[in-house]
Amino acid sequence: MIGTNKIKAAVFISGTGSNLKALYKFSLTKKSPIKIDLVISSDKNAKGLLFSKKKKIISKALNFKKKKTIENKILKYLEKNNVRLICLAGFMKILSKNFIKKFKGEIVNIHPSLLPKYKGLNTHQRAIDNKDKFSGCTIHYVNQKLDSGKIILQKRVKILKLDTSKSLAKRILKEEHKLFPKAILKMYS
Ligand code: GAR
Repeated sequence: MIGTNKIKAAVFISGTGSNLKALYKFSLTKKSPIKIDLVISSDKNAKGLLFSKKKKIISKALNFKKKKTIENKILKYLEKNNVRLICLAGFMKILSKNFIKKFKGEIVNIHPSLLPKYKGLNTHQRAIDNKDKFSGCTIHYVNQKLDSGKIILQKRVKILKLDTSKSLAKRILKEEHKLFPKAILKMYS
């Protein structure tokens, strides 16, 4: 797809930003329907911000404690700049119902479990504690209920006997990096 025709996307992060990196890499490929216009972080010390700044993507660290004000500012920016996709990539804040309703476009999230199993936090430990054979990751549309929107794609990852939440998270994260681009291709195909 030619650069100028691509759908403008914003990526929201809170930490390392490895999914942001994977999305950015994908966005530069010819087949990508999106380009990344903006990165928003809920944490000014997020490692992912170093990456986005290095790549000269407009990057903002915002304080979500003042949620209403901040969300309205973001909405205005997105509208003005014709951003039509928000990718939540390790974004650990919950967007308000108002924000989700008002944004004119799609919001998608990556979650490190096989939803509807293990919504919320500590997904890997909960899967291990329950002696599940598989865990994995999910890309889903964001609706007004936490981790509950329509599923776009999932990838299963086997839980090994000796897995700790850390080792499992690491293997799942590798799959996340492939799944997010795949889901975006599926959305716009
Ligand atoms: C990823 O595993 C992502 O699925 C998870 O946070 C990690 C962020 O890693 N997201 C959630 O738990 C959302 N509830 P990253 O910053 O390296 O992309």
